Amino acid sequence: MAGEVLIEVRPNGPYLVKGPLTFKDAQGNEQRVDRAWVALCRCGHSKQKPFCDGSHSGAGFQAEGGEFHAEPGAA
Ligand code: FES
Repeated sequence: MAGEVLIEVRPNGPYLVKGPLTFKDAQGNEQRVDRAWVALCRCGHSKQKPFCDGSHSGAGFQAEGGEFHAEPGAA
């Protein structure tokens, strides 16, 4: 699995992205992240988007599931 990126959906929480990765923002700026994992907000309440800051807990975020509904890349 070396070199692969794994995205794990946490129940009522963030997406955990595991693996070395590079973020590219809307302006095209890239930032290399060498951490073992990062948590990305999926509740919309984080003050540090795109990262999770734990606000989902206080906001009472309830995800419907996080299971796959479509093939990757499908609209
Ligand atoms: S998922 Fe954690 S702050 Fe949004």
